[in-house]
Amino acid sequence: MKALVTGISGFVGSHMAEFLLQRNVEVIGTIRHRSRMDHIKHLNDIRLVECELRDPFSVENLIQEIKPDLIFHLAAQSFVPTSWNSPIDTIHNNVAGQVNIMEALRRFDLPAKMQIACSSEEYGHVEPHETPILETNPLRPLSPYAVSKVAQDYLGYQYHKSYGLHIIATRTFNHTGPRRGENFVTSNFAKQIAQIEKGKKSPVLHVGNLTAKRDFTDVRDVVRAYWLALEKGRPGETYNIASGTCCTIREMLDLLLSYSNVKISIQEDPARLRPSDVEILLGDYSKFHAETGWKPEIPFETTMKDLLQYWRDQP
Ligand code: GDD
Repeated sequence: MKALVTGISGFVGSHMAEFLLQRNVEVIGTIRHRSRMDHIKHLNDIRLVECELRDPFSVENLIQEIKPDLIFHLAAQSFVPTSWNSPIDTIHNNVAGQVNIMEALRRFDLPAKMQIACSSEEYGHVEPHETPILETNPLRPLSPYAVSKVAQDYLGYQYHKSYGLHIIATRTFNHTGPRRGENFVTSNFAKQIAQIEKGKKSPVLHVGNLTAKRDFTDVRDVVRAYWLALEKGRPGETYNIASGTCCTIREMLDLLLSYSNVKISIQEDPARLRPSDVEILLGDYSKFHAETGWKPEIPFETTMKDLLQYWRDQP
């Protein structure tokens, strides 16, 4: 069994690679010339291929040479605020890369199964009475990033219907854990706390909107879900991957602070507020559970302790 992981050097990609290696799957990952390798330097048994997913020739060569059985398409511009600063780049990056892979699969008539990392951000504006969110909820995206994920989602559906490609879209709600990029809220707050503890930062923690509600799952549960999506999911379908519970960002921060003994004050930083924020994401994963048996196993408290420890261990 040969698996191609796009974006293998990223947060989810590195955990996906670890999961696949534990199952004795041959792992090939795409990197770009400027990719940071910190997250995968401990993985000796993976093969890395330099590939610019936006370049059709680069992708065609990759797919023709590797002929993967499984594709986990994780590479993306995934930070919502960046998508307001660079909307075209976000749309192009996220959409073109996927189209190039699907076109190559179609051209070489390969039977690979492909998972697409879509997002709960696609639901965007959600009224409280519309929760927990089902796959049938309306999509009301609130950022260029969210629109790019809607496009990825529907392109997967369209390539399945038009050409019979085996494509499954996972709409994953927020996920975190060790190696989470420091821009994302859980990691950003954990890093600030770790730096304050080490005396590298004054005891003031900068925050954005603390009233938003998010549904967090551990990244190690998420990569297991991606595996099951290809093993048991139906092509052309979309599945929510979520914990089924949510908390405010303030509650998440309070949990992190409860793991630390230092005294920290909280300060709002206007630069961290967004033109429009998704106020509530609370997912219903019953469709995915019914078809694959998946459910999250790692408690949120464990995830957040592991994340804080990750930052405490950084030099
Ligand atoms: N990043 C960040 N930094 N977010 C903050 C901060 C801060 O200092 N303070 C409050 N927030 C709030 C944001 O306004 C948002 O409501 C929430 O914390 C989560 O922000 P992020 O961690 O940046 O994640 P996201 O919800 O925008 O998007 C993440 O989840 C999606 C799935 O729902 C990303 O991982 C996306 O790639 C993913 O698709």
